[in-house]
Amino acid sequence: MHILCRLDDIKDPGSKGFKQGNDSLFVVRQRGEVVVYRNRCPHLGIELNWQEDQFLDYDNSLIQCATHGALFIIESGECVAGPCNGKSLEKIPCKLQDGWVVLLESFNSEVTA
Ligand code: FES
Repeated sequence: MHILCRLDDIKDPGSKGFKQGNDSLFVVRQRGEVVVYRNRCPHLGIELNWQEDQFLDYDNSLIQCATHGALFIIESGECVAGPCNGKSLEKIPCKLQDGWVVLLESFNSEVTA
């Protein structure tokens, strides 16, 4: 397990990115729930965001890749519009524990699909 951050460190709705070495993740908080994804767009395999902690679209209803605008469902990570339509972000197992966002695996472990 790996404690990532306090739940209160993330706006609701909102998102926050984390880096450790070459590993990059982001958390999305919505209606008190959180999901964590590897920060890698299924289109070109690059990070989704241009600006720090900016992973959501203009009305905070979908995850958006800044490069070509692909849109992903927050809960599932499935792409519903854009060049990687039908593909998905890689979800990282996590849970909320006493107000903390906790990863169920170590931050640096590469998850293979
Ligand atoms: S790199 Fe994300 S949509 Fe193209």
